[in-house]
Amino acid sequence: MHKLIRALTACNHGRPPLWLMRQAGRYLPEYKALRAKHSFLEMCHNPELVAEVTQMPLRHFALDAAILFSDILVIPEAMGVGLSFDEGKGPIIARPLKTAQDIDRLPIPDVSDALGYVSEGIRYLIPQLKVPLLGFCGAPFTVASYMIEGGSSRDLRKTKLWMLQDPASFHKLLDKITDMSISYLHMQARAGVQAIQIFDSWVHVLTPVQFDAFVAPCLKKIVDAVKNHMKIPVILFSRGSAAFATRLAALAPSAVSVDWSIDIPSLRREIPRGVSLQGNLDPDILLTSPSIVRKEAARILESMDKDPGFIFNLGHGILPETPLENVRALVETVHELSDDKPQ
Ligand code: CP3
Repeated sequence: MHKLIRALTACNHGRPPLWLMRQAGRYLPEYKALRAKHSFLEMCHNPELVAEVTQMPLRHFALDAAILFSDILVIPEAMGVGLSFDEGKGPIIARPLKTAQDIDRLPIPDVSDALGYVSEGIRYLIPQLKVPLLGFCGAPFTVASYMIEGGSSRDLRKTKLWMLQDPASFHKLLDKITDMSISYLHMQARAGVQAIQIFDSWVHVLTPVQFDAFVAPCLKKIVDAVKNHMKIPVILFSRGSAAFATRLAALAPSAVSVDWSIDIPSLRREIPRGVSLQGNLDPDILLTSPSIVRKEAARILESMDKDPGFIFNLGHGILPETPLENVRALVETVHELSDDKPQ
């Protein structure tokens, strides 16, 4: 069994597995070269390019997992709200949701028609990979927020006001996204992904009571579907881990992926043994220097030494300005500090 899967079932030994959120992205020169020729969405829609870009970071670094090159916003795109990416501005939804009728009219398309290019990309990739492939989707709250805001927003005010003023239609939207996400993950699992990560990047704007009412039920449905029907491990990522990590762990995923707002060993003592932990180097540290990276990575490694359910990752995605030599220093530190002898 591969190291990542062992850690996701809390039975790893030796050094922890390592992968990096956004590992296939703009800090890689060959990614930028390919992007000069294609738009981001063109790349996501093309199975051969998906396979190519997914493998780019693995050619540079000895990482323990690949993550499918795609985006959480391909689900809204498939639901017909119109998606584009604007240089410097991020995602733009052409027809954001404005009324409860917009939600009623929102179709749930057949995933193999609308997103078949993703499973084609996965089928292309699997025979070429030596490490497990992670599939993913966005969590319903985070995806809904883009469909309402029309793009990236710092405070998600429109989303929160909708949720507070018309919770019934907001629940309907979350349910539609949840159903579509489960079918989408099923398709990814059938195509061969070996584990799933769910990205709830925006829950940190909510109160714990709002989390319990709107976020937890949808995530629970997805976690249960992945574990019981697809029978592969599932990781829940969010920001605002200091507030939400224990709530995510209570949903019984295989692992919780935490940002740098929390001390991982303290969290380890609070949550069930069977829930693995992933994280949590601040991506800004990768902007510094190899010696600072080594020191900060060693601190996390030592604090989780011999934990059979620990996966080394960043607390959020790697930044486009990250120097390759700093990523190399991180990978070497993980490989050197804790050697891989069985204990
Ligand atoms: O991690 C990986 O390497 C796999 C691919 C992946 C991407 N996006 C590629 C991408 C994954 C897992 C995502 C998830 C994603 N997408 C999230 C959740 C994680 C997080 O970062 O919080 C969110 C919120 C999105 C939506 C999104 N996509 C935004 C806000 C942006 C623009 C901001 C930015 O970072 O540029 C994107 C674009 C995007 N997604 C890029 C990549 C490589 C950059 C596109 C480009 O080349 O211009």
